[in-house]
Amino acid sequence: MHQDAEENSQLKWDNRFRNETCVLGIDPSRYLVDHLDLIMAHVPGTKALDVACGEGRNSIFLAKRGFQVSGLDISAVGLEKGRQWMEREGVTIDFRAVNLERYEFTEQYDLILNCNFLLRNLIPKSVAALSSGGILVFDTLVDSPFVPNNHSKEHLLQPGELVRIFQGFPGKILTQEEKLHDEMPTAKLIFQKK
Ligand SMILES: C[S@@+](CC[C@H](N)C(=O)[O-])C[C@H]1O[C@@H](n2cnc3c(N)ncnc32)[C@H](O)[C@@H]1O
Repeated sequence: MHQDAEENSQLKWDNRFRNETCVLGIDPSRYLVDHLDLIMAHVPGTKALDVACGEGRNSIFLAKRGFQVSGLDISAVGLEKGRQWMEREGVTIDFRAVNLERYEFTEQYDLILNCNFLLRNLIPKSVAALSSGGILVFDTLVDSPFVPNNHSKEHLLQPGELVRIFQGFPGKILTQEEKLHDEMPTAKLIFQKK
């Protein structure tokens, strides 16, 4: 990503987080909540990473369930709101400002969450950063006529793409779904690394 594009992306998200009370709402991802039992049955430990965590709604949910959570995001404004929220909830999360376009993981995680964010070259890096038996939860928008047209194509999955990508990694897709006709068409899956 060029310096200008990087600054634009950061500015865009900083502005959204500054101007909207809660961009993705206060509730954690429905998919994460609905699949918590499945995740808990398979996850090999408690070290978790929330990729592009925004204001941290999912980080906080995981921290309250006993995970040691790190949250990465490009927006300092979103992260600061996350820190204030975390204090109100009485949990601790390691929120860090990074640009995931050029981020190299230095640690291993038992659980990685990638929600409402798509950076294709981060996917193999995320799988590599999973511990053995680690779980990756992926939930993001798919291109379809129903997607609001303020989303750029490069940030949208193509139909069938998510499963195809994860079938190429050593491990198992525990569950997956693709809903192309929803108001917000998404593809979601839970992958366990071998
Ligand atoms: C739609 S929000 C999703 C937030 C969160 N995952 C959730 O579901 O509540 C997308 C997030 O991606 C972050 N983001 C966009 N580009 C990024 C980049 N290059 N590096 C890190 N974070 C980025 C934004 O700041 C924003 O918080």
